[in-house]
Amino acid sequence: MKALIAAGGHATRLRPITWTRNKHLIPLANHPMLWYVIKKITDAGIKEIIINVNPGEIQMMRDGLGDGSEFGAHIHYLEQRGGAMGIAHAVANAEEYLRGERFLFFLGDNIILGGINHLVERFENEQLDCLIALSRVKDPHRFGVPVFDDAGKLVRMVEKPKEPPSPFAVTGIYFFDHTYFDVFKTTKPSARGEYEIADVISWYIANGKTGHEEITGWWKDTGTPDALLEGNALIMDDLPREHFSIEGDVHVDTQVQGQVSIGKGTRVSEDTLIRGPVVIGENCEITSSYIGPYTAIGNNVKVHETEVEHSIIFDGATIDTTRRIVNSLIGTNATLVDYKRTHPKTGHRLVVGDNSFVEL
Ligand code: G1P
Repeated sequence: MKALIAAGGHATRLRPITWTRNKHLIPLANHPMLWYVIKKITDAGIKEIIINVNPGEIQMMRDGLGDGSEFGAHIHYLEQRGGAMGIAHAVANAEEYLRGERFLFFLGDNIILGGINHLVERFENEQLDCLIALSRVKDPHRFGVPVFDDAGKLVRMVEKPKEPPSPFAVTGIYFFDHTYFDVFKTTKPSARGEYEIADVISWYIANGKTGHEEITGWWKDTGTPDALLEGNALIMDDLPREHFSIEGDVHVDTQVQGQVSIGKGTRVSEDTLIRGPVVIGENCEITSSYIGPYTAIGNNVKVHETEVEHSIIFDGATIDTTRRIVNSLIGTNATLVDYKRTHPKTGHRLVVGDNSFVEL
């Protein structure tokens, strides 16, 4: 079996972070969001992966994720052709690689805790034509939603209904047989101008052997900083114990509590308190600070005399402030420092990029 991962889009609500980076490369617990998707897919035994990317982004994605050898797999990056016309169209874009195949289609901003092995097995063992994964959510109107009849039989799928017919979201984890491409050719763009995966799935429900499976522990990037922080925290809770290791240079008197990972070349001073779960990358300098739960710090970061909690700090950032930084995303090479006495005491000196969000 092969897998196709959708990793296009422009994630405008995550700017400025996404001005310079495809959102699927945003680090959660120090791995790109998509790394976890690839891991789940390869753990389920699928080793041929195609990743659909925005035009011009192949190099960026390859630099961030590699060629798959890390996972014992092969990754082929494929540019989206013909513009962004919906996720059903992104699958059609990969027809030359998937024709005649049974395949998994995974939306790269969906992360599932636990494995997908049981889904792969069910699709294969029952020789289903289509399998969808459902998750119970509070706000189904924001997703694709399955419709059941009175007898509890799945009858179709609707996209973002104002009045949800069931409490489930159709997650971005789908399995299809080779018929997909013929079905796609019979669909038409919806009112929002997109080819809807809901239309293809509704065809399968009406005409094929379609299964559905409820899953738990599903996270989807809904495009906001808060959602990313929630994903970061969920992943940290899901990381196996052996993932947490201290390889850096930590002073014997430093207080390290809970699950904490500290990378090679990172130095942590004795008057620092780190309370996990926390992941710190390589070659950082952490001095006289408090690093609180659910903080992920990338590589080459400096944190001095600062309290940081529940935040994602990207590579190369410098934070040197007596303030407490919470629920924050601090981008690559960003600098946060206290005002210097050369400025009026009441002023804040800011160089803030386009679409930044600063709460003072
Ligand atoms: C897409 C699908 C939707 C699905 C969701 C899961 O929506 O159209 O059916 O529930 O992914 O991530 P989007 O996130 O593109 O709005």
